[in-house]
Amino acid sequence: MSETCVRPQLLDEQSFFDEHPRAGLATAHTNIALVKYWGKKDEKLRLPFTDSLSLTVNDFYTTTQVVVRDDGAPRRFRLSGQEVNGPAAERVWKYIERLQRRFGVSGTLDISTANHVPMSAGLASSSSAFAALAGAFAAAYELNVDREELSRMARLGSGSASRSVYGGFSRWIAGHDDATSRAVALDENPDLDIRLLAVQVDVSPKSVPSTQGMRRVVETSPYFPVWVEQTSKACDEMEKAIERRDFTAIGEIAQQNALDMHALNLTARPGFTYFQPQTLLVLQLVDELRHNGVECYSTMDAGSNVKVLVQSGNEARVRARIYEVLPQAPITSTGAGSGLVMTTL
Ligand code: DP6
Repeated sequence: MSETCVRPQLLDEQSFFDEHPRAGLATAHTNIALVKYWGKKDEKLRLPFTDSLSLTVNDFYTTTQVVVRDDGAPRRFRLSGQEVNGPAAERVWKYIERLQRRFGVSGTLDISTANHVPMSAGLASSSSAFAALAGAFAAAYELNVDREELSRMARLGSGSASRSVYGGFSRWIAGHDDATSRAVALDENPDLDIRLLAVQVDVSPKSVPSTQGMRRVVETSPYFPVWVEQTSKACDEMEKAIERRDFTAIGEIAQQNALDMHALNLTARPGFTYFQPQTLLVLQLVDELRHNGVECYSTMDAGSNVKVLVQSGNEARVRARIYEVLPQAPITSTGAGSGLVMTTL
């Protein structure tokens, strides 16, 4: 386990071991897409139109414990000790039922999860959440699954989670059906100086959830086929850039692909955007810094916050400049992280 992978004290340990012989624990780190997944061919199976490619990061992760009960107790899902109900819990239970059907296993589950994503990072955590849940499920039932199978399982919960099974750089191969759509590791311990600064410009919940945003561009944007073509090319170029350890090419491809994705959103009917005024300010600052010789690049997901790719030597300068213009915007820094870790308890 990585040093950040701490086992949370989620349940009373003694009674837990006495009463629940079947339990699993897993930790997965969040990943940030460098070439984005933005559009599903099949919503139910979460099959994407294109491959995508990401960097799993070290400081943001989710730890989840799954206990299989057969003592008649009701199912339970807790996040940081608080019982969760409503749509978020429904999504989790639907997912669990699907996995149970798939593997022919049964039992009532008690799920406890803890997100270690600093609020100030403004990062969504569905990638680490569903990868950790898939891992804890597999560990609890002692399923004989390899990492590609785990990636397929995670994908069914949230597409981006398919990539969090691996550390470092990974690529989600779009595939054409449930069996072929899974992520593979590209380089789990990259020998490359790459840092990611998450700049939080806004705390309000995202205006359009990813699933809906994707659906809208797939169904209505006349430019969607162009996005598919450009993104497929970007994936191949990004993979080569990673092989060459070429930070400049990685940054350029990542920034352009993010701009393409956000431009595509404006072309949906009706158009939409995740940009807030301060988002543009950060994007401009990144370009200004680079033009002045401080190499850095921006990327954004389905929200208004900006992630800046930079090498260690330039990190302080980037932070200082953003702070100068936006002193109230928290900046969280991280580097490459490790893949899914699972333990059967
Ligand atoms: C912009 O994985 O959250 O972060 O499969 O609908 O749960 P669902 O989508 P999700 O979308 C991630 C979108 C993205 C790009 C990416 O991570 O590749």
